[in-house]
Amino acid sequence: LPGSEVIVVSNREPYIHDRDGDRIIVRRPASGLVTALEPIIRATRGVWIAHGSGSADRETVNASDRVAVPPEDPAYTLRRVWLTEEEENGYYYRFSNEGLWPLCHIAFVRPQFRREDWEIYRAVNQRFADTIVAEAKSKNPIVFVQDYHFALLPRMIRQRLPEATVITFWHIPWPNAEVFSICPWREEILDGLLGSSILGFHTRFHVNNFIESVDRFMESHIDRELSTISTGGEATLVNAYPISIEWPPRALLGLPTVGDCRRRVREQLGLGPDVKIGVGVERFDYTKGIPDRLRAVGILLERHPEWIGRFVFIQVAAPTRAKLDAYRGLQEEAMAVAETINARYARDGWKPIELIVRHHEPEEVLELFRAADFCVVTSLHDGMNLVAKEFVASREDDRGVLVLSTFAGASRELLEALLVNPYDMDTLAETLVRALSMSEEEQRDRMRLMRELVRDNNVYAWAGSMLMEAARMRKRREVQN
Ligand code: G6P
Repeated sequence: LPGSEVIVVSNREPYIHDRDGDRIIVRRPASGLVTALEPIIRATRGVWIAHGSGSADRETVNASDRVAVPPEDPAYTLRRVWLTEEEENGYYYRFSNEGLWPLCHIAFVRPQFRREDWEIYRAVNQRFADTIVAEAKSKNPIVFVQDYHFALLPRMIRQRLPEATVITFWHIPWPNAEVFSICPWREEILDGLLGSSILGFHTRFHVNNFIESVDRFMESHIDRELSTISTGGEATLVNAYPISIEWPPRALLGLPTVGDCRRRVREQLGLGPDVKIGVGVERFDYTKGIPDRLRAVGILLERHPEWIGRFVFIQVAAPTRAKLDAYRGLQEEAMAVAETINARYARDGWKPIELIVRHHEPEEVLELFRAADFCVVTSLHDGMNLVAKEFVASREDDRGVLVLSTFAGASRELLEALLVNPYDMDTLAETLVRALSMSEEEQRDRMRLMRELVRDNNVYAWAGSMLMEAARMRKRREVQN
């Protein structure tokens, strides 16, 4: 795509400046989306437009709301958009995270749809459209729109920049048409997304769900052979592009060896060299299945007392969206489960569960992965889940077992993980025992295959396939004109 202008738009920004007394600190947020997109925007040297959410964000931008990032070694421009508290509440917390998030995850948390939130959601989408138009230098940039915060944005961009190539990626699942029909503004949302030139989901299953939703609720022409949808204007290509990570992850450079990580983490936790470690790392989100996973550890100890004192499960959970009731309740629940199990089994300075509630930097997470004997990803529903892929990428020693939910998109690719139904805690407990007891040879055989897959289908391949498709579309249009 030589010479093309690339603009990425997401709600979450890749760098957050926060005030800490008289210092300003930079945080990299816990977000699979950010992990995946950061290497792409570095490579294309474009502009990333996002909500400026940090307490020191305004102090760190120039007069045109731009800041060069990464701060230590600038490679691209972050353009911040300011939202009022009312906008953040209506568009981000409520419509996106109390409406679309539980709707798309079918997470048994009732989606809440209120007219006032919808109106703010639409207005904020418009604000981002205005910013894109202001930021675009050419009449046909490639605009890369991210996620469920911006369902209306593709159509808005198309209206203002008709020659732009709009690539939209939906990072979360798309539910079936019946579930989707709960949303009172389903037609507007579908129409908004169909303003895209290319619309991507993680799996074919989500693509099919989306096509069925359009088929049920819109006047459209669907070509199932080409996987395109048109509602009059230019057709949208709707396809599966499983997202991935950078290979090797930047944060791995300069990290101690696997052996050193094992020693360091065991030392920090006061664990002997023979104590096995399991890890789980995620945002404290109700779609991740954290309390049930901890319960499974309890079941394991009850049924297999020989493991008492011989392994520790470390759960790292980063606080997230804590303004919403559904999230606060979850933290309390998980902490209560961990306390009950620890109270029952703790002895001689050992306890089975370490629940660490704070944000971890990527290097700390990778160190934990390297120290672990197994990693548990038991999301109740997940678009892809990049923690699973990061764990695999961190294991240069070809060891370690991945326990993975069949309801995470990653389970369609990482077939050598131990696949589990996260709702079935008894089977999950037995799967953890299997992970604890797996021979080194079997670990190696499984891990090698998964590493090859993540290496070959890395995030550059993901972005590359959408960008190549975009380039083809642009060429075609040139030829036709
Ligand atoms: C998921 C969403 C992303 C989001 C991330 C973190 O991965 O798909 O859009 O950035 O969670 O959540 P937050 O609300 O903190 O941005």
